[in-house]
Amino acid sequence: MLTQKTIEIVKSTVPVLEEHGTTITTRFYQRLFENHPELLNIFNHANQKKGRQQQALANAVYAAAAHIDQLETILPVVKQIAHKHRSLGIKPEHYPIVGENLLLAIKEVLGDQATDEIIEAWGEAYGVIADVFIQVEKEMYQEAAEKEGGWKDFRPFIVDKKVKESDVITSFYLVPADGGKLADYLPGQYLSVKVKIEGEPYTQIRQYSLSDAPGKPYYRISVKREKGQNNPDGKISNHLHGHVKEEDTMEVSAPAGDFTLDLDSNRPVVLLSGGVGLTPMMSMLRTIVDQQPGRKVTFIHAAQNGKVHALDEQVKELARTNGDITSYVVYSDPTEADKAAGNFDKEGYVTLPWLKEVLGTNQADFYFCGPVPFMSAINQFLLEWEVPENRIHFEFFGPSMNLETA
Ligand code: HEM
Repeated sequence: MLTQKTIEIVKSTVPVLEEHGTTITTRFYQRLFENHPELLNIFNHANQKKGRQQQALANAVYAAAAHIDQLETILPVVKQIAHKHRSLGIKPEHYPIVGENLLLAIKEVLGDQATDEIIEAWGEAYGVIADVFIQVEKEMYQEAAEKEGGWKDFRPFIVDKKVKESDVITSFYLVPADGGKLADYLPGQYLSVKVKIEGEPYTQIRQYSLSDAPGKPYYRISVKREKGQNNPDGKISNHLHGHVKEEDTMEVSAPAGDFTLDLDSNRPVVLLSGGVGLTPMMSMLRTIVDQQPGRKVTFIHAAQNGKVHALDEQVKELARTNGDITSYVVYSDPTEADKAAGNFDKEGYVTLPWLKEVLGTNQADFYFCGPVPFMSAINQFLLEWEVPENRIHFEFFGPSMNLETA
C-alpha cells in the first residue's frame, strides 16, 4: 500500500515528468540496452528508431501514475498492453530491470529537481504498477497455456504455404511443427513471429494479424513488404517475403489481442480498412460467414490502387455468393488498368458524405484498422455521425497512439 504522501508526490510530479517525457524515456532505453543488450532480442528496433515506443511507454507510465490511487480505472489499457507483452514473452523478472533503468533516467534528466523523496515515491509507485501488469500477464500466460491446442511462449511452426496476394502482400500459412492441435482464436487477434536473420546479432519479433477465420488447420498471416531492405521497418517483412520459403520453420507465440469482433452482437457490421489494415477485417468477415450467417456486413477497403490491393478476389467472391455482404473499394490513385476494369467504387478517399450515402444509417457496429491518418479520419467521421462510442472499435499497427493527438 502506498502512503497518502507517496501518492501526492507521484501525482504532483506527473506534469514535471510529462514535460521531460520523451527525453527521459529515450535516455531510459539507451541505459536499458547498454546494461541489458539481451533485451534487444525482444524490442522492435524500428519502433525504437522512430521514437514511437518511447512515446507509448511514456504515455502509459504517466497515465498509470496519474491514476495511482485508482489503478482499476485503467485496467482496460493495462490489458491491451498486457496482451502485447504476453505475446512478446515479457516476464516478471523483466519488470525490476525496467524499473531500475527508468528511475536512473528520471534522476539523470531531472538532476537536482529529483530529490531522494521523489525518486523513492516513484520507485514505490512503479512497483505497484508493475505488480498489476505482472498479475494480469500471469493470468494471460495461464490461459494461453491451458487452452486446448495452446502454449505458453514460442512454438515452432512450419510455413506450409506461401501465397502472393498482391505486389506488396504475401500470405503465410503456418502449421505447428509438432503436428499438435492449434489453439482457437478470436477474429481480430494477432500473433508474434520471432525471426533470426543470418548475420544479425539479435532475434526480432513482429506482430501480424491473423487474416483467416479461426477453426482452420493452419494460422494465416498476410504480410506487407515495407519499402527498403535497409529500412528498419522493412527488414523483417523483406526477410519474410524474400527469404522465408515453404517448409521453413519460424517461432510463433499464441494468438493475442483485444481488438476482436463481438460475436454476441447481431447488429449490422461495417468493416473498414486501409492498406494492410485489411488483414484483421478479413478474419472478421470470414468468421461472420462461418459463424453468423445472416448478419449484414459492409466491407469497405481503401488502397492506393489495384496493384497493391490484396485478397480482393476473396472478398468479391464472398460478396457474390452471400447476399448479406456488400463490398466497396476506394482507390486513392487508380491505375489506367483499374479504370479500364472498373474494379473500384470510388476514386479518392473515404469521406463522411460518401459513408452516409453507401451505408444509409449509422446503426451498426464499426471496426476499422489502417494507417494513422486513415484511422483518425474514420474515427472523426463516426463521432460526427453520432455513432455511439461503444460501437466504434479500432486497432493501430505498432505502438498504440491516441487518435486525437495522432
Ligand atoms: C510495449 C508499457 C514494462 C517490453 C509496450 C507498450 C506500452 C508499454 C504502452 C505499447 C503497447 C502497444 O503497442 O499497444 C509498459 C509499462 C510497463 C512496461 C507501463 C511497466 C509498468 C515492460 C517490460 C518489458 C517491456 C518490463 C520488458 C523488458 C515491451 C516491448 C513492447 C512493449 C518489447 C513492444 C513494443 C516494441 O517492441 O516496439 N509497453 N511496458 N515492457 N513493452 Fe512494455
